[in-house]
Amino acid sequence: MDARPNSPEARDIRYHLHAYTNARKHQETGPLVIEKGDGVYVEDIAGNRYIEAMAGLWSVAVGFSEKRLVEAATRQMSKLPFYHDFGSKAHSPLIDLAEKLVQMAPVPMSKAYFTNSGSEANDTAIKMIWYRSNALGQPARKKIISRKRGYHGVTIAAASLTGLPNNHLSFDLPIANILHTSTPHHWRDAEPGESEEQFSSRLADDLEKLVLAEGPETIAAFIGEPIMGAGGVVVPPAGYWEKIQAVLSKYDILLVADEVICGFGRTGEMFGSQTFGIKPDIMVLSKQISSSYLPISALIINDKVFEPIADESARIGTFGHGFTGGGHPVAAAVALENIKLIEERDLVGNARKVGAHLQARLRKLASHPLVGEVRGVGLIAAVELVADKASKAPWGKPAALGALVNGLLQQNGVISRNMGDAIAFCPPLIITEAQVDALVDAFERSLDAALPQVRPQG
Ligand SMILES: Cc1ncc(COP(=O)(O)O)c(C=O)c1O
Repeated sequence: MDARPNSPEARDIRYHLHAYTNARKHQETGPLVIEKGDGVYVEDIAGNRYIEAMAGLWSVAVGFSEKRLVEAATRQMSKLPFYHDFGSKAHSPLIDLAEKLVQMAPVPMSKAYFTNSGSEANDTAIKMIWYRSNALGQPARKKIISRKRGYHGVTIAAASLTGLPNNHLSFDLPIANILHTSTPHHWRDAEPGESEEQFSSRLADDLEKLVLAEGPETIAAFIGEPIMGAGGVVVPPAGYWEKIQAVLSKYDILLVADEVICGFGRTGEMFGSQTFGIKPDIMVLSKQISSSYLPISALIINDKVFEPIADESARIGTFGHGFTGGGHPVAAAVALENIKLIEERDLVGNARKVGAHLQARLRKLASHPLVGEVRGVGLIAAVELVADKASKAPWGKPAALGALVNGLLQQNGVISRNMGDAIAFCPPLIITEAQVDALVDAFERSLDAALPQVRPQG
């Protein structure tokens, strides 16, 4: 870190409160200031180059230097820099994007609705669901079931859906009407000898017990990520989504697929819902929709959701919900061009092919003394680190080993993120096999460098 009083680092410490950061520790360590990007790489102000193994925040599908997105933004900015969709107004990029998203959806869908972030989209999903229940004359049907370790964002309602302690502690969350059911993490939570199918059946039973205890007539929806992302890249065990959906159908509970990470190719299919046979009523999209070059998110809803909402808006006189920047024309133009690039360059196929290479290379590390579990699908993976493989015990405090290895990885030229003791990998979808090799080699060196600290006796 540049210690001069007027350095960017010093000014960052002086003026900037960071997202998801220990603000006191930051005053000592300072920031990593990223200056530019090129393909799967980013460079800091000191000129150090890194493989961005998280695609920023699980989001930059097409890499960090895609000229066509810059041109799409510039064209739209010159033509119509802002408009909105309030009061029946529309503009071409939004009409095109709505049509594209509804047509791309893997299940029959009816309408797209636009927001600016994953959190806003999930808050909007909750409001749509409540509005629908009232429209149907079922005002008691307001509870939404999410999952422990699920991640759905940070606004008040979305953070309540999120099932992670750091998003609730000292924020006085969750709000009422949000329930959390079990995490589908077989490696961590299965009973000894319990198969994946048996574990999935037990989780579906847990869900049904929760529904019955609360009263099925009070449960409006279930929300889940096809693969849990920020909760540690938890890949659902065999049979999980099938068994969960059987419970939801039995009690007429809506299903919201939060595709904010999985959407647009991450798992080797266009949507995570396809990879896991999920048939959602609402799909929540963001991040890779525009490769995060500009903020935009969307909900795609089916007629079961749209029709009652339309009736209720007619009764009241309007659907009283909308964001100034929702469906911004420049962001919509960038999203359209980004989706075009994903299709043209078959980045979904690349996620499948190069993803298989990433998964195979990481699985070779399963025998490393610090590796507890390797999991993932396509171009999303996590390696869970343990101090003791048999007991799955962490090294001292939970997350200490994750932070140690993540720091070493950064020194070795790879930016990743540790979710507790799980090191996540979610690189841009354009990554090549050679770049995956460089990434995994650096990870292996980092694990080896950590080992003497974790096991001083060897
Ligand atoms: C699955 C999922 N849903 C929602 C969100 C929230 O999105 P945002 O940070 O844009 O509010 C995230 C962000 O990481 C996410 O991973």
